[in-house]
Amino acid sequence: MKILIVYYSMYGHVFQMARAVEKGVQSVANAEALLRRVEEFPENMAHIRESEHARPVWEDQEKIPVCSLDDLRTADGILFGTPTRYGNMAAQMKRLIDSTAQLWLEGTLEGKPAGIFVSTATTHGGQETTALTFMAPLLHLGMLIVGVPYSTPGMLHTEGRGGTPYGASTLAGSQNQLQPAPEDLEIATAQGRLVAFIASKLKTD
Ligand SMILES: Cc1cc2nc3c(=O)[nH]c(=O)nc-3n(C[C@H](O)[C@H](O)[C@H](O)COP(=O)(O)O)c2cc1C
Repeated sequence: MKILIVYYSMYGHVFQMARAVEKGVQSVANAEALLRRVEEFPENMAHIRESEHARPVWEDQEKIPVCSLDDLRTADGILFGTPTRYGNMAAQMKRLIDSTAQLWLEGTLEGKPAGIFVSTATTHGGQETTALTFMAPLLHLGMLIVGVPYSTPGMLHTEGRGGTPYGASTLAGSQNQLQPAPEDLEIATAQGRLVAFIASKLKTD
């Protein structure tokens, strides 16, 4: 059983969350975690190469394969990770979503469980709106949305960190200077585990 984790990350927060999600997927029997990044826009590369923060993150991720339509097609469950851009998913991720017309026609993604995990700069910067607006195209594609139940450890809190019922989340800080809280990473792991577990229950062949 293949569980795809596809993400975009410029400063590394969503990347760290993706690694935590991967750990959760790997904890489920017979689940193979496929980590894929979405393609960067060529016009961003100059900024990334010059930025002391973005460049090392890019160098860490460069070797991770870019997500293909076949990766989406063959996955039994998918977790999508994106930073917030004005309360929505990043355009790099939207480009992947908008390239799925053939999959929509084929109904390939119908009935597959999907989770979303996000990062914002600020506490009220749009974690929930990003996860919620991401759900719309996934529902058009027929996917089954998997959130994070409140019974997950670390979910019931009033602290300055992530953890939403719509999907795991973390805070990057206004200068991307923060690191994901340990609880944010644990919730991401729990979400990865849950998506993989549900996919294993749905798999018939
Ligand atoms: C164009 C743009 C729009 C952004 N919009 C928001 C926003 O609406 N709310 C917010 O909290 N952060 C916003 N951010 C900050 C990013 O969400 C933040 O850098 C990101 O979560 C860090 O994730 P990463 O380290 O994986 O790249 C924005 C950043 C950019 C470049």
